[in-house]
Amino acid sequence: MTGSTPPFPPPAARAEVERLKGYSAPLEGRRGLLRLDFNENTVGPSPQVVEVIRSFSEELIAVYPEYDGLREALIANLKASKESLAHPLALEQVGVFNGVDAAIHAVIHAYGSSGDTLLTTSPTFGYYAPCAGMQGMVIEAVPHAMPGFVFPLDAIRSALSRRPKILMLCNPNNPTGTRLAADQVLELASIAPDTLVVVDELYEAFTGDSVLPTVDFERHANVLVLRSLAKTAGLAGLRLGFAIGHPAVVDRVGRVTGPYDVNSLAVAAAFAALRDQSYTDSYVSEVLRARDWIVSVMTRSRAVFHCDGGNYLLVWPERPAAEVAHALRAEGILVRSMAGKPQIDGSLRVSIGTLGQMQRFWEVFSFVSKSG
Ligand SMILES: Cc1ncc(COP(=O)(O)O)c(C=O)c1O
Repeated sequence: MTGSTPPFPPPAARAEVERLKGYSAPLEGRRGLLRLDFNENTVGPSPQVVEVIRSFSEELIAVYPEYDGLREALIANLKASKESLAHPLALEQVGVFNGVDAAIHAVIHAYGSSGDTLLTTSPTFGYYAPCAGMQGMVIEAVPHAMPGFVFPLDAIRSALSRRPKILMLCNPNNPTGTRLAADQVLELASIAPDTLVVVDELYEAFTGDSVLPTVDFERHANVLVLRSLAKTAGLAGLRLGFAIGHPAVVDRVGRVTGPYDVNSLAVAAAFAALRDQSYTDSYVSEVLRARDWIVSVMTRSRAVFHCDGGNYLLVWPERPAAEVAHALRAEGILVRSMAGKPQIDGSLRVSIGTLGQMQRFWEVFSFVSKSG
């Protein structure tokens, strides 16, 4: 009787999902170009990572991933870092995710119910909003204070008095570079014990400000810190992120994560990257050197730009941003247009790579960005 069944529409998803606009990023056709558009590592991971990937065995491909030792390796890496840890971390305080994006998704899935508020700043990283939206959460996005995209501390403090379910702090903030000192993050967490304070520290290596060296998760059980090997360590294509916090919080977030969500190649690469911290440190130093250089040439040439934390800056070209992005692409350089984002519409976000790469960027940009 199927032939006589009238066509009917596909079943509807949850109402929240039907309302959702998916998060998409312009990811195609980027290979072989100078990629200053996604704040990635622009030179690639440690040679030790590459070696581990090259020697990956058939057996390891055929079996499900094993995670033994990975959390220990992260803790050892953090302990050995410049600022060390005032309070030791236990294994149950570390969750492993398929990139920090997956951690953000899981945290919001585990903690956000329909009608709850997710408090954050604006503009900020674009993936928080769809994750909140798919739970039916209400987003309260407080603009940064102008001039200078300063963290809106008083407004966030007063919004916390309304007890939002989640406070999402991107520190330093992508894309404005806005920084918040670690003690201020912890102060916000102290005044809002019912709010889960998620600190996305993806770019902390470029500026410090991490809460990890000082936070005591017994006292600040509502703080969850996100760290990734995507950017500084150069594993963006393999996907590996961590969530670090109180064991009960890490446990809840783990409950909404699949048992094999992180793949074996990512695990093997993560071990190698965590072992070779000096490679990442020297990449970070090179980016900081390049940042000083580009800031000084932009200042001298009176470009309109904003550069604070992170490995990126915002620049407002004299000509329309879309035209300039197009002209840069024609010269093999990718940057990200911030069109439509509050406060920064008309700007381009430019990731900071090595000194040589920024010199190349400036050579082309200073030519194509000028009107007349
Ligand atoms: C602030 C911020 N958080 C999280 C992510 C996602 O990180 P991952 O590649 O580890 O998923 C990004 C990537 O651009 C980001 O900028």
